[in-house]
Amino acid sequence: MTKPTILTGDRPTGKLHIGHYVGSLQNRVRLQNEEKYQMFVFLADQQALTDHAKDPQTIVESVGNVALDYLAAGLDPEKSTIFIQSQIPELAELSMYYMNLVSLARLERNPTVKTEIAQKGFGESIPTGFLVYPIAQAADITAFKANLVPVGTDQKPMIEQTREIVRSFNHAYDCDVLVEPEGIYPENEAAGRLPGLDGNAKMSKSLGNGIYLADDADTLKKKVMSMYTDPNHIKVEDPGRIEGNMVFHYLDVFGREEDQADIQAMKEHYQAGGLGDVKTKRYLLDILERELGPIRERRLEFAKDMGQVYDMLKKGSQAAQAVAAQTLDDVKSAMGINYFK
Ligand code: TRP
Repeated sequence: MTKPTILTGDRPTGKLHIGHYVGSLQNRVRLQNEEKYQMFVFLADQQALTDHAKDPQTIVESVGNVALDYLAAGLDPEKSTIFIQSQIPELAELSMYYMNLVSLARLERNPTVKTEIAQKGFGESIPTGFLVYPIAQAADITAFKANLVPVGTDQKPMIEQTREIVRSFNHAYDCDVLVEPEGIYPENEAAGRLPGLDGNAKMSKSLGNGIYLADDADTLKKKVMSMYTDPNHIKVEDPGRIEGNMVFHYLDVFGREEDQADIQAMKEHYQAGGLGDVKTKRYLLDILERELGPIRERRLEFAKDMGQVYDMLKKGSQAAQAVAAQTLDDVKSAMGINYFK
């Protein structure tokens, strides 16, 4: 029995924050260590370039940073194939053939693409590469014959579009070369989308409201101390609200089994009045430090030798390329364009 294949990727547009960690990275490490799957994890630099064409430096730097975040969080190149999208030209070639199977109208209907176009303010100047990135994403997924794709719920339309392409391809060329993937979505929506330090629904670089895996202990402390709590909880004796209070929200996400009794007691004390924000923040800081301290240490260790990190990425990319080349070969044979075979 061959193991089912899992594939996931991230757009390298900055360092990873703790929202990425609880929303997906932690889960990938868990899946990797179950050793029941063949895992591919990749840096989708080509996709990131679809809206950063004139600013490649950010993407290039982020490739190194996200690779460090991966290693620090526990992805292990001995167990998972970690690679860089742009180093696998077969993916672009597959995209060319898939483009002929998808109408422009279908791409324009993709809800995630629609939202992103509005957010990014492209106006009438949508880069063609951006509009077709769902097709390139289908190439990423199908090149590795992925069965399972763990992603955020915002990626559902991409998985749906990939499945359509697979069916359309296999039908058009009367074959079963491509594999229909399933998405795996976060069970817990709360962890799936961690709000920012300021209470904004989204933790993001542009909002400046995130905690990064790369943050040092001092930065972590400053950020926790600045977190949004209950604006009406002015004096310690005042009763406080835990709903919408980021300290309690993060405690719910990061607290372990053995912390639950303490957390419950603190919630009750806070609501009754008499518990100050500084105390709750100190407690949260300890909990975060317990989780993030070891990750930070490992990150610093790996960062000492970036040559070794790129070497790992190169090996992963070579291994990934071999798999993608085989799929491309099958695809061309199915289409009857493997002229020299
Ligand atoms: N679109 C994904 C994101 O923005 C990144 C991505 C690119 C991806 N290719 C993929 C995810 C293939 C899963 C599978 O997060």
